[in-house]
Amino acid sequence: MASSRRIARWLHALILISPFSTGYAASTRAWRTRSVYQTMTDCFARTDGSTSSPCNTTAGLYCGGTWRGMIDQLSYIEGMGFDAVMISPIIKNVEGRVTYGEAYHGYWAEDLYTLNPHFGTEQDLLDLSQALHDRDMYLMMDTVINNMAYFTNGTDPATSIDYTQLHPFNDAKYYHPYCPITDYNDYPLAQRCWTGDDIVALPDLKTEDPAVQRMLNSWVQDIMAKYSIDGLRLDAAKHITPTYLPDFQAAAGSLVTGEVFDQSVSTICSYQADALTSVPNYPIYYALLDAFTLGNTTTLPNRVEEMKHACVNVSTLTTFSENHDVARFASLIDDINLAKNILTFTLLSDGIPMIYQGQEQHLNGSHDPLNREALWLTHYDTGAPLYKHIATLNALRRHAIRTDPDRYIDSLTYPIYRGSSEMGFRKGREDRQVVMVLSTQGTGSGAYKIRLTTGYQPSVAVVEVLTCQTYTVNDVGEKW
Ligand SMILES: *[C@@H]1O[C@H](CO)[C@@H](O)[C@H](O)[C@H]1NC(C)=O
Ligand SMILES: *[C@@H]1O[C@H](CO)[C@@H](O)[C@H](O)[C@H]1NC(C)=O
Ligand SMILES: *[C@@H]1O[C@H](CO)[C@@H](O)[C@H](O)[C@H]1NC(C)=O
Ligand SMILES: *[C@@H]1O[C@H](CO)[C@@H](O)[C@H](O)[C@H]1NC(C)=O
Ligand SMILES: *[C@@H]1O[C@H](CO)[C@@H](O)[C@H](O)[C@H]1NC(C)=O
Repeated sequence: MASSRRIARWLHALILISPFSTGYAASTRAWRTRSVYQTMTDCFARTDGSTSSPCNTTAGLYCGGTWRGMIDQLSYIEGMGFDAVMISPIIKNVEGRVTYGEAYHGYWAEDLYTLNPHFGTEQDLLDLSQALHDRDMYLMMDTVINNMAYFTNGTDPATSIDYTQLHPFNDAKYYHPYCPITDYNDYPLAQRCWTGDDIVALPDLKTEDPAVQRMLNSWVQDIMAKYSIDGLRLDAAKHITPTYLPDFQAAAGSLVTGEVFDQSVSTICSYQADALTSVPNYPIYYALLDAFTLGNTTTLPNRVEEMKHACVNVSTLTTFSENHDVARFASLIDDINLAKNILTFTLLSDGIPMIYQGQEQHLNGSHDPLNREALWLTHYDTGAPLYKHIATLNALRRHAIRTDPDRYIDSLTYPIYRGSSEMGFRKGREDRQVVMVLSTQGTGSGAYKIRLTTGYQPSVAVVEVLTCQTYTVNDVGEKW
């Protein structure tokens, strides 16, 4: 069936869904139906509620965000329709300052059994967990188990580390002998040698050692139970002994999305097949950049198809278009309509969407640490165009899931249209499908028409979600 429609001047995406639904809530809310808002605890919200406290991202120092501050801003997150929140690693980090700053990000672990006092107290974290669950939101914790950290500050990591400072791994026997990673594409080397440098050494845990494994398993079980954590992001999963990852996931007893910073489809899919249920979807991330920074409408539809066939289950990967390790989209191309398009794909395609704090405010920090702006400086503006856009898309996604709980998530996205500057995709069961049409033209675009096959049957009522207009498909399957 063909359906033709006009792309209005400002319209960046056209999304249709049948409004006829019986609307019942799914009894089991699995992670893949969730939508995750990724925070960095230090830069999200302060206990004093300040929206003016300065934060110099270049300096890389603690800026004062806390768990208590986050509790007070959960409405801001929930207002966008998210039902899960990721927080930074919670454990105590090395204290003090080196040339590139402090451990505000939480990745310089010193003591697994003590909380990071900069973020708050045990009671604060328990209260945050409770506050999230009271809103039926899940808590995802970012986690580091590849390594601990030590300020070597220019001295040789091979000889200058006092392992008794680290807890519970307080002896050199728990670590690989020091060697720097000289080639990050050499996986065995990247797993055996150390990330970090000689300013902040990151002593690399022997994650192949059963004693280390037992200690990590026991730690993760304790901490998940104590703070009622629902899932984990696993930092630097690429650097951990791969055969240990399934055991760690089993010990955690939850979804673990493990960072494998690699755009190779076969690498990402083999991690999903052999190691972890979920991996952040870097291949799709790079295809999104091809589409919305270069205007290439070939890469993304092709990669959607490629991953569907290569991966065990793309619906459990995490889908993102920004995170704290990559340049913000607005730093690559400053166009609000392209920003809406990339968000639309992120939220409506397959996988668990993960939106990084500040994307909704169109922040434009480039590489790390500039992309770690204090969110409070935006005054948590709920009128921001991308804030409202995300709210609409999360509502649509949730509606589609509720309408067809078994089928919407499992009916994987497939491309239905490719033009010189448009891409059309559909997802969901016949006549309940969501169709998205994305444009790479951006704000400068004028009005034009495209024809594409959407698969809607004659007389089906469809809603253009971004304008709230209702249409009835005519008897040749066209909208008009
Ligand atoms: C921010 O920090 C950088 C690096 O420490 C410093 O050079 C710069 O002057 C600081 N900027 C402000 C506004 O304080
Ligand atoms: C690192 O060395 C610099 C210069 O010698 C010194 O100012 C700084 O305090 C040291 N930092 C730590 C954490 O030891
Ligand atoms: C788009 O990207 C593909 C690779 O995914 C490449 O083969 C093709 O040449 C690119 N097209 C344009 C117009 O740059
Ligand atoms: C994908 O994984 C989910 C969650 O484990 C499962 O419920 C679903 O059946 C899987 N889908 C396929 C096609 O294997
Ligand atoms: C980043 O955003 C700020 C605030 O909107 C703006 O003043 C600045 O010009 C932007 N920078 C770039 C490089 O676009």
